[in-house]
Amino acid sequence: MKKEAQKLVCIILAAGKGTRMRSSLPKVMHKITGKPMLMHVVDTALAAHAEKVVVVTAPDMESVRGEVKNRYGDTVHNVVQQKQLGTGDAVKAAQSVLEGYKGNVIILYGDTPLIAKETVLSMSAILDASPDTAVAVLGMEISEPNAYGRLVVKHGSVERIVEVKDATEEEKHIRLCNSGVMAVKGSVLFPLLARLNNKNAGGEFYLTDLVKLARDDGHACGLATADPQELMGVNSRVEQALAESIAQETLRRKAMEQGATLIDLASVYFAHDTKLGKDVIIHPHVVFGEKVEVRDNVEIRAFCHIDGAILHEHAIIGPFARIRPGSDIGESAHVGNFVELKNTKLEKGAKVNHLSYVGDAHVGEKTNIGAGTITCNYDGVNKYKTEIGAHAFIGSNTALVAPVKIGDGAIIGAGSVITRDVAQDALAIARAGQQEKTDWAKNKRKK
Ligand code: UD1
Ligand code: MG
Repeated sequence: MKKEAQKLVCIILAAGKGTRMRSSLPKVMHKITGKPMLMHVVDTALAAHAEKVVVVTAPDMESVRGEVKNRYGDTVHNVVQQKQLGTGDAVKAAQSVLEGYKGNVIILYGDTPLIAKETVLSMSAILDASPDTAVAVLGMEISEPNAYGRLVVKHGSVERIVEVKDATEEEKHIRLCNSGVMAVKGSVLFPLLARLNNKNAGGEFYLTDLVKLARDDGHACGLATADPQELMGVNSRVEQALAESIAQETLRRKAMEQGATLIDLASVYFAHDTKLGKDVIIHPHVVFGEKVEVRDNVEIRAFCHIDGAILHEHAIIGPFARIRPGSDIGESAHVGNFVELKNTKLEKGAKVNHLSYVGDAHVGEKTNIGAGTITCNYDGVNKYKTEIGAHAFIGSNTALVAPVKIGDGAIIGAGSVITRDVAQDALAIARAGQQEKTDWAKNKRKK
C-alpha cells in the first residue's frame, strides 16, 4: 500500500426503503452501539480521509439529510435519488458532486455499518496497484448466503455478480458473496453506469452489473475478501441485533485490552464512543449511553446505566445507579444504590449513597447527601439549580427546592423541605416539630 494519503472519495447509499425493517424510521437511522448505521459508515469514510463523502437518500428522507448536515456541516454532501430504481441508479445521483473526479470512488452501503477504515483503504489500493483494474469488489465467504449477491469468479478474477433473484440453482450454491462494497476508478464510473439496464428479476438498475460491463470493455476486476461479520448487511431487526452483538463484542474486547476488567462481559453494553481508563472494574449488567468517559481505577458495580457523564479516578458507582447526561463524578466520589443524577457535578469525595435524585446541582468536596434526598429542580415550567457547598451534610429525606444554596459545612436536619438559602456552617431544620402526648395511645385502646 502506498505511504501517502490515497486519493479517494466515498459514496454511501442510503436511499433504499428498508421495508424489511417494518419501521417508520429510515433503515439507515436505526442505531448500532448508540449511533445510526449511516453515521458509522460516514465516520469510517472520513477516517479513511475520503476527499469527498456523498450520502444518497430518497426524497422523503429529509430528516436523514438534516441529521447529516447537523453532524457534519458541509464536510459531507447530501444528494437525492429521485426514485428508488436500484443501487446502480443510486450511485448516479452522486454524479453532480463527483463529475470529472479522476481518483478512486469507493461505494459503501448505509446498511453495512461495521466496515473498517482499513478495508476501505485496501479497496482503493487494489485500483492503484494496476492500471488495468477499473473495478474491485469486496467479497465474503458465507456458509448460508441467503439473499446476498453471488460472485462468479474465474481464474481469480470476478467475471460478474449475480443477484439471488436472477441466479441459477448452480449459482445459488456459490458461497463467495458480494458485500456491496465496490471500488471504481472515477474515470470509468459514470460512463459505465449510463449503460446499466433493469432487465432482471428485480426490475432494478443493479450496481453489481458494473462488473460485467467493465469486463466487456476489457478492464480487469479485482477481488478482495474480508470477515463476513465486518461486512454484514442489516435488512431486518434480527440482522440489526446480530450487528449490535458483533459490535459489542469488539468494544468489549477493546475495553479489556485497554486495561478494564469486565466480570461478565456479555452483560456489559458499551456505546461506540465509550472511553475507559486503566484498572476500571465493571460488574455485570452495566449499560453505557453515548459520551461517557471513565477514568482510571473507577469501579462500576452491577446494574448501572450511565449516559453522557465523566467519572473521575477512584469513583465508585452503584449498584443500581443511574447517571444521566451532564454529570461529572469527582475523584473518589461515591454514588450508591437507587440514585439518579442528572446534570450534576459531584466534587472530590462527595457521597450520594442511597435512594436520591440529584439534578441540576453542584455538590462540594466531601459533602454527604443523606438517603432519600431530592433536589426539586423543576417547578413545572422551568428548571433551577441547587448549589451545595463543601463538607456539608444533608440529612435523610430532605427536599431541596431549587433555586437554593447550601453553604459550606452546613447541616440540614432530616426530613426538611428547604426553600431558602442556608448559610455556611449553619443548621437548618424545616419540618413540623414533634409532639408527644403521654399515655394517649393506651387511653384510646381502653375506650
Ligand atoms: C445488495 C447487493 C447484493 C449484496 C448486498 C450486500 C445490489 C443489486 N445488490 O443487495 O449483491 O450482496 O447488497 O448487503 O447492489 N439503495 C439505494 N437506492 C436504491 C436501492 C438501494 O440507495 O434504489 C441503498 C440502500 O439504502 C442500502 C443499499 O443501497 O443501503 C443496498 O440496498 P439493499 O436494498 O439493501 O440491497 P440488498 O438487497 O441488500
Ligand atoms: Mg441490504
